Amino acid sequence: MRVAINIDHIATLRNARGGNEPDPVSAALLCEQAGAVGIVCHLREDRRHINDEDVRRLRLTIKKKLDLEMAAVPEIIGIAVTTKPDLVTLVPEKRLELTTEGGLDVVGQKKYLAGVVEQFRQNNIPVSLFIDPTEAQVRASADIGTDMIEIHTGEYADAKTDSERNEQFMRIQEAARLGKSLNLGVNAGHGLDYENTSAIAAIRDIDEMSIGHAVIVRALFVGIEQAVKEMIKIVEAS
Ligand code: PXP
Repeated sequence: MRVAINIDHIATLRNARGGNEPDPVSAALLCEQAGAVGIVCHLREDRRHINDEDVRRLRLTIKKKLDLEMAAVPEIIGIAVTTKPDLVTLVPEKRLELTTEGGLDVVGQKKYLAGVVEQFRQNNIPVSLFIDPTEAQVRASADIGTDMIEIHTGEYADAKTDSERNEQFMRIQEAARLGKSLNLGVNAGHGLDYENTSAIAAIRDIDEMSIGHAVIVRALFVGIEQAVKEMIKIVEAS
């Protein structure tokens, strides 16, 4: 089980004052030193946090895996193909959302997404699809030839009661098992924190977790290396 760190919110803080600090690339290097297996960033169409120059510098600087989260739209696809991240994670994107709200509707957009996956394949860039934990979405993802899926853990993280959380956990576990049986790599992420991560980390069919907000928040108090190490410790103990 491995942990990749999403550094978008280092850029959010930087952009609050329009200058250069804190620098997401410096943060990414510290995350790597602390043991993160990869760095994740989301180049949104509105560039609200990570910008084009950040992606370019990250590609040149970090030593571990760069996972570029992105909407499957022509402008960002063009940037991804030029930048050549180690993985692209396709997510749905709405301008007014605070963060990614649901998974991609692979079932409903099968033909379009199959073309996008193929475009990345021709450019030797592996693709992950961020989807809700349903059988239909996992099967549709496998059908269109993606390399991986990332299971959306947001509903699990937002569950208000133990029984709701348990139900969401089972959905994630089932989706991970199905993904693995269809020979997909299986990642998970969204809303994971220092309390709710260990149960997800214990699912053996999940290869990697993508965690951002909780780690960056903790970093404000204990420093980013310590925050990353604490999360890795939780994952390794699961
Ligand atoms: N995975 C995906 C696809 C995401 O869109 C996000 C949020 O950017 C994350 C993981 C990380 O979520 P969080 O910041 O809540 O840990």
